[in-house]
Amino acid sequence: MYKVGTIIASLVIFVAVLSLPFFYNMGKVNKGPVINLNTPAIQQLAVKQCIESTEYMSANHMKLLKKWRDEAVREGKTEYINSEGKSFRISLQTCLNCHHDPTSNTSDQFCVSCHDYAAVKPNCWSCHLQPVHPS
Ligand code: HEC
Ligand code: HEC
Ligand code: HEC
Repeated sequence: MYKVGTIIASLVIFVAVLSLPFFYNMGKVNKGPVINLNTPAIQQLAVKQCIESTEYMSANHMKLLKKWRDEAVREGKTEYINSEGKSFRISLQTCLNCHHDPTSNTSDQFCVSCHDYAAVKPNCWSCHLQPVHPS
């Protein structure tokens, strides 16, 4: 019976050693995307608001952008009126005007950071220009 303690102790150490890589990686995996909502352009806004509500944008920005693309390319529309009657120019550049941060690295940019995290690869940038960074 004297061995039970030793066995339990070894089991505890064994489990601890096995979990080390898990705890080690946890910090990295859960780091999450950089959602920089403090770009110079956003700092200038009197009301910190996106084109539509934040909840709507989080869930539906891809639908909105694809609608914009179709309206622009097929119907020649240039203006989007939001649910509060405010006008925005239909262009990917409109998003970047507010969300691009010229003081930040590419990997820390709003769209890229979140898409990398979510493993989404919009093909838009293969034709559309993404702002280039000096660093
Ligand atoms: C194969 C090349 C290509 C790809 C990929 C592409 N686009 Fe475009 N897009 C164009 C072209 C060409 C125009 C027309 C530009 C013009 O009229 O000045 C355009 C126009 C647009 C416009 C309206 C005008 C503007 O300057 O933004 C939007 C919005 C748009 N695209 C969104 C998207 C989105 C969102 C994606 C990704 C889901 C995407 N596009 C992927 C080629 C592409
Ligand atoms: C006038 C400046 C402005 C424009 C233009 C703009 N945004 Fe935003 N966006 C904001 C602000 C400010 C917030 C954060 C609002 C808040 O604090 O809840 C935001 C939030 C978001 C979010 C939610 C982020 C989160 O917390 O989950 C997404 C996604 C987003 N924007 C995408 C877009 C896209 C795509 C476009 C272009 C179609 C766009 N934005 C155009 C200012 C803008
Ligand atoms: C809060 C995180 C987050 C931010 C910030 C964000 N996106 Fe997204 N985006 C996503 C997710 C998640 C998806 C995939 C959703 C799905 O497939 O249903 C996506 C999908 C898209 C798609 C459709 C891709 C496809 O191939 O169907 C486009 C276009 C897009 N995002 C553009 C943008 C642009 C432009 C910005 C910056 C202005 C932006 N997103 C910012 C999370 C984000």
